Amino acid sequence: MNARRYPPGPSMLAAFGGLSPSGDLHRVPGFLAKLSRDYGPVASWWMPPGRRFWFLDDPALIEAMLTASGFDVIKGRGLQRMRRLLGEGLLTSDEPLHLQQRRLVQPAFHRERVAGYAATMIAAARAVADGLTDGETIAVDALMNRLALRIAAATLFSADVDDDADTIGAALTETMAVFPASMSAFGELIDHLPFHPTTRRFTAARAQLDRVIFRLIEERRHDGVDRGDLLSILLTSHDGDGAPMPDALVRDEALTLLLAGHETTANTLTWTWDALARTPAAEDRLHAELDAVLGDRDPVPDDYPRLRFARDVIAEAMRLRPPAWVLGRRVIRPIRLGTWQLEAGSVIIASQLVTHRNPHYWTEPEAFRPERWSNGETETLPKFAYFPFGGGNRICIGENFAWTEAVLLLATLARRVRFRGTDLSPVPLDPLVTLRPGRPILMHVEPRRSLVGAQ
Ligand code: HEM
Repeated sequence: MNARRYPPGPSMLAAFGGLSPSGDLHRVPGFLAKLSRDYGPVASWWMPPGRRFWFLDDPALIEAMLTASGFDVIKGRGLQRMRRLLGEGLLTSDEPLHLQQRRLVQPAFHRERVAGYAATMIAAARAVADGLTDGETIAVDALMNRLALRIAAATLFSADVDDDADTIGAALTETMAVFPASMSAFGELIDHLPFHPTTRRFTAARAQLDRVIFRLIEERRHDGVDRGDLLSILLTSHDGDGAPMPDALVRDEALTLLLAGHETTANTLTWTWDALARTPAAEDRLHAELDAVLGDRDPVPDDYPRLRFARDVIAEAMRLRPPAWVLGRRVIRPIRLGTWQLEAGSVIIASQLVTHRNPHYWTEPEAFRPERWSNGETETLPKFAYFPFGGGNRICIGENFAWTEAVLLLATLARRVRFRGTDLSPVPLDPLVTLRPGRPILMHVEPRRSLVGAQ
């Protein structure tokens, strides 16, 4: 007999509960971590109406999943559901459109281009630092969100988009607020009920985003000036036949970059401040590096490669609190992962939140130890034991942008101020599209002692 072979896994009932049919994703990280503990590198189970699920916690299998051809696997349900907002943008589109668009957008992320955005990033962080008052209490998560959105808007649209950034921020928050309902077992059904409160909220927010973005596109097409920003690159790019990108696709790409480009970086920084407030030794070492590299000046783009410990701090924050915490794929043509054969229709899941803490690969997996990135400990790790930016042909296009932004923002702010935690009890996770903190991260602003009075 030619029976298929499957690894062990949870019962259908346990999996149904664990994957939250209500769309509330809070229990999902715990469920996935338990799968890893109970079944090891790979677990598999059936879900009605007859779909096989696979959960991977093994770097070699994760690599095989992420490097599978885009003609054999497509994005999982989470990102499929995001299409209602992001259309055919890079994050959500399938092949062959994805590859064609990726080629067009890629020049905006070349190293020299990103170095050009670095000055905008530093200026935005300086403006935030200037607005802080000694002793005040701030919600670091909200502050980082505003800062990252402003940077995304400024690098994407370059014009002074302060008012637009607020409108965009509010509308994006609305669209994310309805995400759990949209992920529920009835999500697709709700889409077809125009008067359902979730559908109405979502449609109104999307229309608001469209108004701003189409206006920005029209203004730019009209003045025809190449401002060297992402929007100019999208508007001046041509496909193989010399045809410009249609406005609807420019809109999808612009909105995708705006959303993917700020929410993730904002979360990275929020979790970084939280970790530093809890780990004085790491904070001291960061301050020592900033004093040595910058002295009493703000960073300039060329400082980026010298801020090595700052980079390690960011790397470690993304290990423990990966902003993209889960990745999914749906198999459309049978594939092989290691020794396993996956039929069309199968769903594959991997989670950075689980694999980044697998004790098989990480020493003291739960501890925030940025030094692990420079003491040789991580040199022998298999490639996909750490994959905050994914991998393969769908690897994050903004990876270099994100590292530059996170390191320079951390350096600009931490040189001037220290954020002291007001509540050091564990922060619950709010796993949505990205991994957000489940409560506001309130912190006191203190000037850095060594820098009082310095500019
Ligand atoms: C810390 C910050 C960031 C993290 C952790 C992150 C993470 C990721 C991950 C894991 C993926 C792959 C998703 C998948 O395979 O299903 C991805 C894709 C993507 N990211 Fe990022 N990202 C970050 C910042 C950015 C920035 C700054 C931008 C743009 C300015 C950006 C734009 C994109 C786009 C367009 C894609 C889709 C790429 C494609 O499929 O060709 N990301 N990101």
